[in-house]
Amino acid sequence: MKFAVVGGTGLIGSQVVSDLNAAGHEAVPHSQSSGVDVISGEGLDEAVAGADVIVNLTNSPTFDEASPAFFRVSMDNLLAAGQGSGVRHFVILSIVGVDRVPELDYYRAKALQEDILAAGPIPYSIVRATQFMEFVDAVMSWTTDGDTVRLPATPIQPIAARDVAEAVAEVAAGAPLGGIRNIAGPEVFALDELGRVTLSHRADGGTVVTDPTAGMFAVVKGDVLTDTDARLAPTRYADWLS
Ligand SMILES: NC(=O)c1ccc[n+]([C@@H]2O[C@H](COP(=O)([O-])OP(=O)(O)OC[C@H]3O[C@@H](n4cnc5c(N)ncnc54)[C@H](OP(=O)(O)O)[C@@H]3O)[C@@H](O)[C@H]2O)c1
Repeated sequence: MKFAVVGGTGLIGSQVVSDLNAAGHEAVPHSQSSGVDVISGEGLDEAVAGADVIVNLTNSPTFDEASPAFFRVSMDNLLAAGQGSGVRHFVILSIVGVDRVPELDYYRAKALQEDILAAGPIPYSIVRATQFMEFVDAVMSWTTDGDTVRLPATPIQPIAARDVAEAVAEVAAGAPLGGIRNIAGPEVFALDELGRVTLSHRADGGTVVTDPTAGMFAVVKGDVLTDTDARLAPTRYADWLS
């Protein structure tokens, strides 16, 4: 099968391209760096021409109030291009519990992306993943001051990007789900505890202070970002760290 992997140079996209090609498919990465722009529409018709499946793994350059416009415009442009070229399956990667955190602009933007896809003309699949292990450092950096990190105890179920890519490639190569598949890491941590585990693996150490008001995950209520009934990926956080 032929796949147009838009955002195919990113963390997940590049590994999805490798996995699909290794499985004998023809997957081509597209992104701004190869002259394809999901916002202006430049190069999109050419990128999706002849593809059976579009896998959209682009990401907004910011997580703020500008992010809904990114996902709305990019989805409108990609759906129009895909419909024009007769694409049979459209896959996106979203976030477990994304519709349960309307306080966050970025989560509202991803929920909007899902809604646009589901209401659109192309058979679709939505893969929802929990937070990537690769994302933990960025989360910690937002609330680091000197050698102290402030983090709330929000339950998080981190998943390795490698496992996410494998799951996305599998869904993309299958029949459209017409719905959502949740994938998650094998363990649930309180975010402050996850921070402590992370720092214990670093030579320069540091301290985590539990602070229910710190950072973007402070607004998350209960355990909406976890799903122990999801398809659980194999990689454990301590193994990924080492
Ligand atoms: N972080 C998490 O924990 C998490 C959890 C669940 C789901 N997700 C979702 O996973 C998806 C992929 O994330 P990622 O970390 O792999 O993203 P990433 O590494 O930031 O890659 C983003 C990709 O989008 C491309 N791109 C950005 N703007 C573009 C534009 N205007 N036109 C064309 N291409 C554009 C980039 O290409 P260039 O480099 O060429 O600009 C790059 O290939 C995102 O949609 C995110 O919401 C993330």
